[in-house]
Amino acid sequence: MAEILVTGAAGFIGAAVCHALLARGDHVVGVDNLSDYYDTKLKDARLAQLTARRNFSFHKADIADKDAMLGFAGRDIAGIVHLAAQPGVRYSLENPFAYVTANVMGQAVMLELARALKNSTLKHFVYASSSSVYGANRKTPFAVGDAVDHPNSLYAATKRADELFAHTYAHLYGIACTGLRFFTVYGPWGRPDMAPILFAGAIARGEPIKVFNHGEMWRDFTYIDDIVAGVLRALDRPADGAPPHALYNLGNNKSEKLTDFIAEIEKAMGKKAEKIMAPMQPGDVPATYADIEASSRDLGFAPTTPISVGIPKFIAWFRDYYRV
Ligand SMILES: NC(=O)c1ccc[n+]([C@@H]2O[C@H](COP(=O)([O-])OP(=O)(O)OC[C@H]3O[C@@H](n4cnc5c(N)ncnc54)[C@H](O)[C@@H]3O)[C@@H](O)[C@H]2O)c1
Repeated sequence: MAEILVTGAAGFIGAAVCHALLARGDHVVGVDNLSDYYDTKLKDARLAQLTARRNFSFHKADIADKDAMLGFAGRDIAGIVHLAAQPGVRYSLENPFAYVTANVMGQAVMLELARALKNSTLKHFVYASSSSVYGANRKTPFAVGDAVDHPNSLYAATKRADELFAHTYAHLYGIACTGLRFFTVYGPWGRPDMAPILFAGAIARGEPIKVFNHGEMWRDFTYIDDIVAGVLRALDRPADGAPPHALYNLGNNKSEKLTDFIAEIEKAMGKKAEKIMAPMQPGDVPATYADIEASSRDLGFAPTTPISVGIPKFIAWFRDYYRV
C-alpha cells in the first residue's frame, strides 16, 4: 500500500494533516525529531493520538540527517508533505543556526529523498512555506506573483530559500513540487510560542499581555481545519507546470486587527486582558493578508472559519488541555 510521508508529524499542522489523511484512508508515515523548541509534552500528546490510530507509523528522525532520511527511499511513498521546520520569527534572531539546519539543510535532504523516490513511486512533494516571505510588502493582499526578495527575518529567508530549492529540483529532475505559504495558523493543539496561546495563557493567569507595534498589527489568522483542507487539496493535485513547481497562499483572506483578535479571545474566555502596548519587534511585519485567488482557482481552497467561530473552538481546547 502506498504511503504518504509527513514530516513534522508531532507538530501543530503536521499532526492535524496526519489525522485528516488517516481519516480518508491513507497510510501515513510520520517523521519528527521532537525538538524541544517548545514544550515536548504537547508534541508527545499529539503523537500519542496518532500512534493509537491504524495505518500510522512513526519514526523519530532529524530531516537534516541525510543518512536517516534517505533510508526512506526504499519505501512505497506516493506523496511527501514536508512540514518539519524550525518555526518562529523572533527566535531566529537568537538561534540562527537552528533555522539553517532544519529549514535549509532539511529542505535539501527532503528534496534529495524526493529525487531518490521520483523514478519509482513519488507523485508529489508538498512543503510548507510562510506568509513571512512577503516581508514588509506594502501591496495587499499579498499575491503569489508579488516580489519576495526582501525578507525581514532569517526565518523568512530560509522559507524563501526552500521555495527556490524546490523550483530547482522541479526544473532539474521534473519532481512535482508545491509550496504552501501558510498565514498565521491557529486552533486546537496550536503552538505555545504563538500569540493565541500566549494571550490565552496570560489572560487565564491574570497576567498582562504585550501588544506589539502599539496594536497597529494586522494578521490573516487562518483556522487549522481550513489549512488542513488546503494541504490535502494541494497534495491531490501535483503541480504540472514547466517546471512543475507551484506556490499558493493558504490564508483566510481577511486581515484582522490584532486588538480585534484579542477581543474575541476575551469574549470566549469571559475575561478582559490587561494590555501593555509595546513597540514593533525586530524581524516582525506589521500586516499580512492573503490573496487566495490562485489557491481557490487551482485547488478549490475555500476557508470557511471566521475568528468568531475559530476562537471559541480554540479556547475550548485550550481550557480542556491546560485545565484552566
Ligand atoms: N503555524 C503557523 O502559523 C505557520 C505559518 C507559516 C508557516 N508555517 C510552517 O508550517 C510548518 C509547520 O508549522 P507548525 O506551526 O506545525 O510548527 P510546529 O513546530 O508545531 O511543527 C514542526 C514540527 O517539526 C519538528 N521538527 C523541527 N525540526 C525538525 C528536524 N530537524 N527534523 C525533524 N523534525 C523537526 C518539530 O519537532 C515539530 O514537531 C513549518 O514548516 C512552519 O514553518 C507555520
